[in-house]
Amino acid sequence: MTTSSLSTAAGTVPADDAAASVPTTDAAPAPATLEKINYIGRELFEKIGKPRTVLAPMVDQSELAWRIISRKYGADLCYTPMYHARLFATSETYRNDMFSELDGDEKVDRPLVVQFCANKPDELLAAARLVEGRCDAVDLNIGCPQGIAKRGKYGAFLMDDWDLIWNLINVLHKNLKTPVTAKIRVYEDREKTLAYAKHVLSAGAQFLTVHGRTREMKGQKTGLADWSIIRYLRDNLPPETVMIANGNLLYQEDIPRSLEATKTDAVMSAEGNLYNPAIFNLGKDKLDDRFPRVDKLLREYFEIAKTTPGNASKTAMKSHFFKILHAFLPIHTDVRAELGSIRKGSYDEFENVVRHVEQVVADIYASGKHEDVLIEDSHIEEWGGSYKEIPYWRCQPYFRTVDGVKANGKRSLEDRSEKQKEKKAKKEEEVTTEEQKTESVEDKLEPQQA
Ligand SMILES: Cc1cc2nc3c(=O)[nH]c(=O)nc-3n(C[C@H](O)[C@H](O)[C@H](O)COP(=O)(O)O)c2cc1C
Repeated sequence: MTTSSLSTAAGTVPADDAAASVPTTDAAPAPATLEKINYIGRELFEKIGKPRTVLAPMVDQSELAWRIISRKYGADLCYTPMYHARLFATSETYRNDMFSELDGDEKVDRPLVVQFCANKPDELLAAARLVEGRCDAVDLNIGCPQGIAKRGKYGAFLMDDWDLIWNLINVLHKNLKTPVTAKIRVYEDREKTLAYAKHVLSAGAQFLTVHGRTREMKGQKTGLADWSIIRYLRDNLPPETVMIANGNLLYQEDIPRSLEATKTDAVMSAEGNLYNPAIFNLGKDKLDDRFPRVDKLLREYFEIAKTTPGNASKTAMKSHFFKILHAFLPIHTDVRAELGSIRKGSYDEFENVVRHVEQVVADIYASGKHEDVLIEDSHIEEWGGSYKEIPYWRCQPYFRTVDGVKANGKRSLEDRSEKQKEKKAKKEEEVTTEEQKTESVEDKLEPQQA
């Protein structure tokens, strides 16, 4: 490692700092010739309209149709789901399924960041070249904590090989016209996380998205994201570094709270957006703008999904229906049965569900039995926000119940026995979790990786 300094988006990251406490690996040492990095992150951020609200990359869930509806409800910037770089580069079928001619279209799907997982620089570069010019940046996933990522050595498991991370980012930085960005998880240790962030930036990453959880915080151990560590990075990285904070967003109010606490440029939401895409609809007071009616949202989304080419929107549809309807289905179990019985999923079958929902909601209003009001609780919870009672036929965040107590969706179930936890989680998960989604898609990839 040289002792030279690196110029960054905002200033200078000493190369020595970037290398501090790098875990030792058997791989070649971090590149000795750290050339001057051309940081254009701030310029890029301004060019794409200074986004504040960002739709997270989500396997099988942040596909084109969902991006279109998310943008309509306030997402300023969207990420694609994570694509497997080698498959993307080598399989035309996979590529056409995942990234259709309309993905990245200037009129309907920008600004856009395309995300890949990879562990070989040449494969990553080959994949990225195929989306060059069809997106605003290419992101490297170094945050996926799932077992399959461990076996395949990518995602958060690259955190054990900083040199490889550097090479992956830098190969794009050097060879691609489209800028490269990175989405990271944190370490428990702040200093190590800071050194890691500097290392990622020193390779050429132009935006740094920080998911405030460690690699171990997944499944039952998910817990709350740590905003304070994101703030620590913000305070100690060059001020011009473009940073996006990720984690703990359930209501619209959490967005300014997160921006204030982390002082980042933007926030990213995954689950909060899936259950209520209007989470991003900032500055709008009407109930319909904050917690859209499920009948209207479902119809809107379905009409979009029917028109988007490629296979991604089709495969994601059932899961989106479940998430949009999560508060509605336990009451209208006939709708749940109808939706649950859809297997391959023809548009007609989904159309029937949408009509059924429309009829039920129309009956709710016609009956005059239910009050269409929002009840706000002023009590501040441990996670920093307050719960609200939202009519069940409106989109709303999903809170798991822990020992009979409503809890922030990501709270750890530490005080349960392992078996209890598993049983409870299985029962509660009517909709697909991050882990299941990520596993399931990557399971599809696995045979071809062998
Ligand atoms: C269904 C689902 C799929 C996900 N897939 C990806 C992915 O492809 N790439 C990635 O970097 N993170 C992925 N994640 C993680 C999210 O991007 C995000 O970092 C995490 O869910 C925390 O944000 P949240 O608290 O807003 O949910 C996924 C999450 C969910 C819920």
